[in-house]
Order: sequence, then C-alpha cells, then structure tokens
Amino acid sequence: MRTKYVAGNWKMNMDKAGAVALASELVEQLKGVDNKFMIAPPFVYLDAVAQVVKGSNIILGAQNIAATENGAHTGECSAAMLKDIGVETVILGHSERRYEFYETDKLINIKVRMALEHGLDVVLCIGELYSHKVAGVTEAVCEMQVKGGLDGLTKEQLAHVTIAYEPIWAIGTGKTPTPEEANSIHKSIRASISNLFGADVAENIKILYGGSMNAKNGKDLLAQSDIDGGLIGGASLKSETFVPICKYTV
Ligand code: PGA
Repeated sequence: MRTKYVAGNWKMNMDKAGAVALASELVEQLKGVDNKFMIAPPFVYLDAVAQVVKGSNIILGAQNIAATENGAHTGECSAAMLKDIGVETVILGHSERRYEFYETDKLINIKVRMALEHGLDVVLCIGELYSHKVAGVTEAVCEMQVKGGLDGLTKEQLAHVTIAYEPIWAIGTGKTPTPEEANSIHKSIRASISNLFGADVAENIKILYGGSMNAKNGKDLLAQSDIDGGLIGGASLKSETFVPICKYTV
C-alpha cells in the first residue's frame, strides 16, 4: 500500500503574513498525521515559510526552477538556490507552465534532470485538454508527457519522482472526472511507467490526482486503488479546506 501524498500548490496567491499564518496552522493541525504532505508557496515567500515548516512533517516545495545553473539568467531561480533555503521538492510541468509559459516536454525534461541532479524531488504534472478528452486521446497524451518528461532518467532517479495527473479541464473549474474515470487513467499512466522503467518502479511510484479536488470529493478520489494522493490548488489556500483532505486515510 502506497502512503497518501497530499500537496498544496499555492500558485501566485497570498501575501507574506498570510503565507506564514497558513503554514503555521498546517504545522499545528497536521502534527502526528500519518500521510506525506507538501506545500508550494510562491518563490518570494519560500524562505519565510521554510522557517515555519522546519522540523515538521510538511515538505517545502517550489512551483518551478530554472533550466540552467546559476549565472546570467535574469529573473530565474536556480535549483541550487532553492535547495539552499530548504526546498526539497519542485512541481514541474504544471499545465499553467505548459500553456501560459510555453514549456515543452523537452524543457520540462531538462528541468526534471536539473532538479534531480541537485537533490530535489520532483512532482511531474501531466494531463489532457478537454479537446483531447473528447477526441479519446487522454491516455496517449499522458503517455507522451510521461515519456517526454522522464526521458533519460534511471530507475534509481524514479524513486524521487511523483506524477500528478491533472486533467486541464478540471483545474480551477469545479469539474472533475468520476473517481473511477480518474482511477482508470491512473492505471494507464502506471502501465506506461511499467513499460518504461519496470513493474517495480510502477508499483512504487505515487500518482496524485489534481483538478478541483476538495474536502467533499477528495475522500472518494483518494479511496481509489491507483490514486495515491492529491495536488490541490484552490482548496489548499485555507487550512479549513486543505486539512480535511490531508487527513483522509484510506
Ligand atoms: P485546483 O488546482 O485544485 O485549483 O483545480 C490544481 C492544480 O492546478 O494543481
């Protein structure tokens, strides 16, 4: 049985006081709760939040990293810098990065490798557009993104990778696939990973669901055999809506 992993993607929300307050509430309320937790605040609040979550059971995540090492790259933030302030994980390949910032599978793969080389864990996001779903190519799109994002990695590196399946039409819309539909996509993603890296890697890798997960629908989604947790956007911005999802143990 894979332990559940619940992650909060705060995106470009909050101010410093709010970020510190929310992190403090989560540290308090998740004390002793036996799942894996991560929060990913905006870059500018990472250092402040790092002080709050230090020594707790909450992992500090970033929402992106530079594809290059330190140096003349205006506006970027390197893996080494994030590591330096206590970041342990990075979310890569989020659909908002793919579609708003034109990130390709190739670029995402460079970032995945960069993160792993610097000792950061990775949450690799994949997922289909509504038009893909209608065309019946969801599994093929996910397989392509898994292949592209994880290209060239070793089996050993896969121990530091989590996949987040996020149907793009479900993100921030209040719409979700049924738990059974989501589970069936998760199974096909696991099968792709098995083909690429072997059955043992596929059995152990966590595949999270993301897209309008909340305290109401979370329990049924997390009860599915192949849904190993959630990547939560909107509902991660308040402890009242995030903590109940974190506490579901199935
Ligand atoms: P949402 O976002 O929970 O607000 O739909 C999820 C995500 O984009 O990771």
